[in-house]
Amino acid sequence: MNHKQIRKIFLSFFKRKQHKILTSASIVAKQDSSLMFTNAGMNIFKDFFIGQKHSQYSRIANFQKCLRITGKHNDLFEVGKDNYHHTMFEMLGTWSFGDYFKKESIIWAWELLTEVYKLDKSNIYVTIFKGNKEDQLSFDRESFQYWKNQIDDRNILFFDKKHNFWEMGTTGPCGTCTEIHIDLRNEKEKLKIPGKNLVNKKHSLVVELWNIVFIQFFRKADGTLVKLPNCHVDTGMGFERLCMILQNKKSTYDTDLFTYLIKSIAHKTKQIYGVKDKIDIAIRIIADHIRAVVFAIYDGIIPSNKKSGYVIRKILRRIIVNYYLTLKIKKPFLFKLVKPIICYIKNSYLNKSHLKHDISSIILSEEKFFLKTIKLGIYKLEKIIEQLRDKQCHIIAGKIIYWLYDTYGLPIEISKIITTKNHLKVFYSDIL
Ligand code: ALA
Repeated sequence: MNHKQIRKIFLSFFKRKQHKILTSASIVAKQDSSLMFTNAGMNIFKDFFIGQKHSQYSRIANFQKCLRITGKHNDLFEVGKDNYHHTMFEMLGTWSFGDYFKKESIIWAWELLTEVYKLDKSNIYVTIFKGNKEDQLSFDRESFQYWKNQIDDRNILFFDKKHNFWEMGTTGPCGTCTEIHIDLRNEKEKLKIPGKNLVNKKHSLVVELWNIVFIQFFRKADGTLVKLPNCHVDTGMGFERLCMILQNKKSTYDTDLFTYLIKSIAHKTKQIYGVKDKIDIAIRIIADHIRAVVFAIYDGIIPSNKKSGYVIRKILRRIIVNYYLTLKIKKPFLFKLVKPIICYIKNSYLNKSHLKHDISSIILSEEKFFLKTIKLGIYKLEKIIEQLRDKQCHIIAGKIIYWLYDTYGLPIEISKIITTKNHLKVFYSDIL
């Protein structure tokens, strides 16, 4: 199944369950001052949950572009190192606004995964909220009862608030959740360690797939919970992970959502993907981040020195540092990756970009400027290193590293790599 079929099956399934099908909203959290970017499918429905607005439809299914690079939900530093984290990802979502609740959410999730997508039941684990004293919440017995009718008891696990209570941010609508995890390891591995021991342990092949949140509370700024007038459902399934499972891959980066990009990056940087870890990580970071950047620019954020524009610029610079240092690429090339990503966006989403500028040109000028910055900074640092060497000094002052960053914009991580290569120790205590 290709990604288009996988998405279509999800939407058709929920259409048959009387859900209104909607396309994704912008990745820029325009209506919500507590967020910069849409970090979950539910953001756009926040007002419906808290009763400030009334939804025209009581059941909705959609797929939403999400970006998790700031705030409570931030996956930036997980990306690349493993096979399934992303900053920008697509979330297949379903919503019930005061309509159905735990029973239908659980039965339908199970039906879709096991009868429609035909996933092997024995590989699936579900987690249930076991209660929390601080919030005065008890064990989610109701979800447990519904799951018991579907799945072997041994595949039902119990976790606390950290894993089974979902919150949008420090304040806002929230509630207990039940998660669906899947074990993708081979039989030999499963015999060694049972899958249930690896759920929520950051194992790369025992991963969370679908989060079913029962929105019933509002978390206030003082940390207390108040009950909402109605009970709602907010579910989110990671599209990249679903494609990984259904396409029989061990990494989201090996699905048809990414292979075109991975191949193109490897080709343009003259590297082979799948041989050396260090190179693979760099390629995955580039693939993930450039997708995030193009999606964000498409939705109207121009890289700049302010707010969300600055975040996007920093992500772009993170890619440039990465290709400069690890792949030894000294010339702009990211701009060449834009076209196929735009094609993907146009094929998947109905929204048109409001952007007048050409995204490739924006990225090219960012790359040119930052590469020039890095080159000048490195030139200055090398001059200083030469002087230190003449004086037979093996220490460099931390304030010089900071000065290079502050004055020339040379990222500290680049300075550190160069000083280490030159056997210099950085004397940090003078920075502050
Ligand atoms: N809002 C839930 C999540 O983002 C579904 O995981």
